[in-house]
Amino acid sequence: MIYFDNAASTAVHPEVVKEMLPYFDVQYGNPSSIHQFGRKAKNAIQKARKQVAALVGAEPDEIIFTSGGTESNNTILMGIQAFRPEKNHVITSSIEHEAILEPCRDLEKNGVKVTYLSVDEHGIVNPNDITNSINPQTVIVSVMFANNEVGAIQPIKEISKICNEYQIPLHTDAVQAVGKVPINVKELGVDALSISSHKINGPKGVGALFIKKGLTIAPEILGGGQENGMRSGTENVASIVGFGKACEIAKERLNENISHFRTLHSSMLSKIVKEIPHVKLNGHTEKRIFNNIHLTFLGVNGEDLIIKLDEHGIAASTGSACSVHTQKASHVLKAMGFNHEQITGSLRISFGYMNTLDEVDQTVEVLKKVVAELRSVSPYKTKYNF
Ligand SMILES: Cc1ncc(COP(=O)(O)O)c(C=O)c1O
Repeated sequence: MIYFDNAASTAVHPEVVKEMLPYFDVQYGNPSSIHQFGRKAKNAIQKARKQVAALVGAEPDEIIFTSGGTESNNTILMGIQAFRPEKNHVITSSIEHEAILEPCRDLEKNGVKVTYLSVDEHGIVNPNDITNSINPQTVIVSVMFANNEVGAIQPIKEISKICNEYQIPLHTDAVQAVGKVPINVKELGVDALSISSHKINGPKGVGALFIKKGLTIAPEILGGGQENGMRSGTENVASIVGFGKACEIAKERLNENISHFRTLHSSMLSKIVKEIPHVKLNGHTEKRIFNNIHLTFLGVNGEDLIIKLDEHGIAASTGSACSVHTQKASHVLKAMGFNHEQITGSLRISFGYMNTLDEVDQTVEVLKKVVAELRSVSPYKTKYNF
């Protein structure tokens, strides 16, 4: 099997598994308990908090553990609006993950106005549009760091300058960017940032929300007051420990991973372009995360392509796997101005640290074969003279 769907989820790193195991059997205390068992669990969480904070240049007490990217995104959007109900305007982009778009739609049902910024043909927001959309009612701007489908990186630093000027908090969903590009919340000037563990070789069902000191939001989950009152409920200790370790590894190996992804990316892209006609790279050529390649194979149905690749033991995707609405045409590609044919012909390949150049070569060979097979029965056969 070749696994090229690391944007959907990643294998848990063996060192992460090792670190987590004791918290399932011997270290089973509740972190809120006063005795030794409890203290050990609490210390383990505090260590993980430092590891997560270090990866994004935050202070440990600016990190809240959550159940993942989805919860982090919901918490910031709902939490800030609940804390400042007198403000009723949110700015976001039209290419966000559903974990931003759905809470925005929910806010709209409650009378909040949401501006969905358009993007250019590379999937990138124009910061001037933010300046033009801000009004006295704007409570938050939320623009993702890197898009989960096409990998486009957004101009977060420029956006943060604008938001700082107007004193409006800026949140960024950095789920796909963490571990793929250097991130420092202070240098970026963001007020809130979402992270998910399972995208960086940590366990699923855990993540974090960075909230800059001084920014107050209403908690979403009430109860025993864990996570400084921001997220009640007995902590998922083993997963938090694993997430912390995954962040430590991601920080240590960031440069190595980035250069590995670039090598795989350029090798695969140059081979595909050379071997297969009528293919287009989507997203920006440079302003992108390099573990992602998003392509359109004209005259081919992306889902048929995924099935064919799967028959050859290769796991890839058409786009976002973190949504149950997989049948829906991609809102991201639509926002980039793609027509129906371009949208249906798309394929996302996403690398992890374990992928090799040999796997790239094998995949290009299979792609060549299956794309030709699918094109031989394509309704666009005559249009492109396949
Ligand atoms: C950009 C982005 N945001 C949020 C999420 C949701 O994260 P999680 O699966 O941890 O809830 C994903 C998952 O694919 C994502 O790609």
